[in-house]
Amino acid sequence: MGLFKKKKQTAFGLDIGYSSVKGVEVNKSGDEITVSRFGSVPIEETAKGNRAESVVKAITRLCSESGFSTKRVIAGVSGESVIVRVLRLPYFSEKETEELRFAVESEARDFIPFDMEDVAFDYQRLAEIDAGTEGKALEVLIVAAQKDVVKWQSDVILAAGLDPRVIDIGSFALVNAVQYGASMLPSAPVALVDIGSAVTNIAIMKGEHTRFTRDLSTAGNTITRAIMSELGLDEPQAEKAKRDFGISYEGDPDGEEEILTISQTNLPDMFDSIDEGSESTAESGDQMEQQVHAICEQFLGEIVSEIKRCLLFYENQLDGEPVGKVYLTGGTVCMKNSDRYIENLLDTPTEVLDPFKAVKGDILSLDPLERGAKYTVGLGLAMRSVMGNGVS
Ligand SMILES: Nc1ncnc2c1ncn2[C@@H]1O[C@H](COP(=O)(O)OP(=O)(O)OP(=O)(O)O)[C@@H](O)[C@H]1O
Ligand SMILES: [Mg+2]
Repeated sequence: MGLFKKKKQTAFGLDIGYSSVKGVEVNKSGDEITVSRFGSVPIEETAKGNRAESVVKAITRLCSESGFSTKRVIAGVSGESVIVRVLRLPYFSEKETEELRFAVESEARDFIPFDMEDVAFDYQRLAEIDAGTEGKALEVLIVAAQKDVVKWQSDVILAAGLDPRVIDIGSFALVNAVQYGASMLPSAPVALVDIGSAVTNIAIMKGEHTRFTRDLSTAGNTITRAIMSELGLDEPQAEKAKRDFGISYEGDPDGEEEILTISQTNLPDMFDSIDEGSESTAESGDQMEQQVHAICEQFLGEIVSEIKRCLLFYENQLDGEPVGKVYLTGGTVCMKNSDRYIENLLDTPTEVLDPFKAVKGDILSLDPLERGAKYTVGLGLAMRSVMGNGVS
């Protein structure tokens, strides 16, 4: 091997979502990063309703369609089974590893609502801080994930014939995608929000670290289910209506665009009027559009309220500095006008993340909205392996 030959590293990030599996394979050669393969496959329910079986089938199909060159995968867990927090502890030097471990583990128990035997646990030193009269303090990032959730992921990956090398945390993948994919290291705090089908994942990063995460169980499926029940549609019809109509956005007379916000209080009137049945087809089509807009706005509005609460909590309780920018990802941000709606309600600059700015490959031929919404987590998981740092 020549001394100056660049070492090529390959990593396969596998994002097992609720509605689909997405894979991103990355090659790193020197400083150059290329997405060599990528793909996504929906998870279809089996007749017996066995979730693991459906996921294994989807992963197997993804691999045969996308032809990944390695079986070693990095996957991620998120949701209520994962706890991420920054703790402030008395100062310990780099050498006092045992003392620090003992302090972290005893403090962490207060924040982990599971038995310590049932969680995979890790931590990382963050910053030394000056705690005034109390002297130096140490900030430590703790991570805990329920072992059975981690095991479930590894089992489906093994059953699909792959080799689960690392099970990472979904929100860390978002941070890696920003840092290495979009090549940004924001010194002020930024929020990364993944609005998927079953979970909305919120992470706040500052510098290279995740400092806050929260997962909500309101996401795209909540909106589809509300359309199904309010409009009496089946799932494919409701999904289509959601994608066709999304959020309404109307231009105002001054040329500045403004959101047509429909308050929750006028929703019942709108729903009542579907039953009157006297309108022409065109009118009822129009009415259906208005109803879908109202539902999308109401539920996305609820998600945004939670995001806002997280931003305020972070600013007031954890940092003192406000979140200056919000980056979005996840399929639900493909909803028409959702980014502008979210930005308007949050009153904070917001955009869909394009984490492929600093990489090469065919993925760049995809629409930036689509690649950012779909492949951010997969890319972030793969990046973790080629850049190799952090806690798992
Ligand atoms: N154009 C669109 N308009 C509205 N919603 C959309 C659009 N495209 C996709 N979605 C929604 O995005 C969601 C799927 O997003 P995504 O693929 O990020 O979810 P997932 O990763 O499978 O799930 P999760 O992250 O919650 O486990 C679905 O609810 C789908 O209806
Ligand atoms: Mg997802």
